[in-house]
Amino acid sequence: MFSHITTLSTLFLAALSVVNAVPMKRAKLDVWNPEIVSPTAGDVWPAGSIQTVAWNLDGIPESAHNTSGTIYLGFWEADRDSENLDIQHPLAKGFKYGDLQVNITVPNVPTRESYIIVLTGDSGNVSDDFTITGTSTSSADVADPAETDGDE
Ligand SMILES: *[C@@H]1O[C@H](CO)[C@@H](O)[C@H](O)[C@H]1NC(C)=O
Ligand SMILES: *[C@@H]1O[C@H](CO)[C@@H](O)[C@H](O)[C@H]1NC(C)=O
Ligand SMILES: *[C@@H]1O[C@H](CO)[C@@H](O)[C@H](O)[C@H]1NC(C)=O
Repeated sequence: MFSHITTLSTLFLAALSVVNAVPMKRAKLDVWNPEIVSPTAGDVWPAGSIQTVAWNLDGIPESAHNTSGTIYLGFWEADRDSENLDIQHPLAKGFKYGDLQVNITVPNVPTRESYIIVLTGDSGNVSDDFTITGTSTSSADVADPAETDGDE
C-alpha cells in the first residue's frame, strides 16, 4: 500500500530521486560520492544553530576534489520512499569537495528524528538519519527501518 501524499513536490522529488539513482550505478566511472561523516546517527542539531557538515575523500582522485558541491536537507517518512529533499533551499553551495567540510545554519523546521543531509556534486550521497529539535513536532516520524520492512 502506498500511503504517501501525491503532491507536485513529491512528484518533483521522485524525479530527483531518479536523477540521483542513475549516477550511483556509474560510481566506478567518473562520478564520485564523498562519504558524509557529519552528521552521524544520534546527532541532534537545534534549529538556528551553526553545524558542520563534513565528508571524506577516501578513494576519490584529486581530479574530483574540485567538484563544486551542494548540500540539501531532507528527511525520510515512515515508508522511506522519498528523501524529501528541500532542493529549493540548499543549506550550502559553491564549495569544493576538497574543502572537506562546510558550516551551515540549521533551518527552522519541525522536529524529526529522520533528517538527512545530501551532498551532491556530480552525484550524491546520503548521511545517516539525525535529529533537529525545532519549533514543533512533526506529524510523521520514522520508525526503525527494520520495523517497517515487509509492510507494502
Ligand atoms: C556513499 O559513500 C559510501 C562510503 O564512501 C559509499 O560506500 C557509497 O557507495 C556511497 N553512496 C553512493 C550512492 O555513492
Ligand atoms: C582546482 O581548480 C583550481 C582553479 O579553480 C586550479 O588552480 C587547481 O589546479 C584545480 N585542482 C585540481 C586538482 O584540479
Ligand atoms: C566551522 O565551524 C567550526 C567551529 O566553529 C570551525 O572550527 C571551522 O573552521 C568552521 N569550518 C568552516 C569551513 O568554516
